[in-house]
Amino acid sequence: MRVVSTVAELRSILGECRAAKKTIGLVPTMGALHNGHASLVERSVAGNDVTVVSIFVNPTQFNDKNDLMNYPRNVEADCALLDTLNADIAFVPEVEEMYPEPDTRVFNFAPLDSVMEGPFRPGHFNGVAQIVSKLFYAVEPDRAYFGEKDFQQLAIIREMVRQLSLNIEIVGCPIVREADGLAMSSRNMLLSAEERERALIISRTLFKSAEYAREHSLAATKSFVEEAINAVDGFRLEYFQIVDGNTLQPVGEWDDSNYIVGCIALFCGKIRLIDNIKYKEVK
Ligand code: PAF
Repeated sequence: MRVVSTVAELRSILGECRAAKKTIGLVPTMGALHNGHASLVERSVAGNDVTVVSIFVNPTQFNDKNDLMNYPRNVEADCALLDTLNADIAFVPEVEEMYPEPDTRVFNFAPLDSVMEGPFRPGHFNGVAQIVSKLFYAVEPDRAYFGEKDFQQLAIIREMVRQLSLNIEIVGCPIVREADGLAMSSRNMLLSAEERERALIISRTLFKSAEYAREHSLAATKSFVEEAINAVDGFRLEYFQIVDGNTLQPVGEWDDSNYIVGCIALFCGKIRLIDNIKYKEVK
């Protein structure tokens, strides 16, 4: 695996790949890789001739300076893992490489970004769109892979690709969970042992709510989750929304949509965690 730190070198290598008619898969990450990321890399390796994994903690998507400072970083271990997964290129740029000058672009994803994460993390999705679009321009992948844990991010990236008329297939990949159900996240490693135990309640509550939903209204299911989470000492719920999986707008009744997802964000101690569950998906 090659480790590349400049866009110029990346373009030159990928130019040769493209000339040889090779397909290119991109897995954008912020590093601190876990098995969730590994599943995205495996999908890309299986579906493309060349897989590029970017590792870049993107400052423009952090609305909280402490969160940016404390975000886990371990590039050496990340590259070792990517090597075992048969990734071809790790793209590991410095901040100055991706932002030679401040990125002043303002995207408009309304109403997708006005719900859920939007009000709690102002500017977050604009920052995500800035970096992901830069990565897309630098790599020009055929396909790019994103996890469904960041459900809203995935919808917004699809919308960005539409707005920018990019010819990139966005592949959404299922949430990967620890054996006990906790959704994998780089932030999990910041949890204390006690918080890690408590964090289990999130997925357990979501799974239970899927059973509950079979016999109860959507409003009752929403309350079921909110009450269970609010009852836990050490949790601070930001939102639990039951939304249409495409528009991300709140749904009132189970019959209102064929694709219904419950999305949650909460603080477990000082660590912000998100998760989601599909209540209904008719393809
Ligand atoms: O999901 C993430 O890790 C980040 O938001 C992404 C897509 C790599 C952009 O920095």
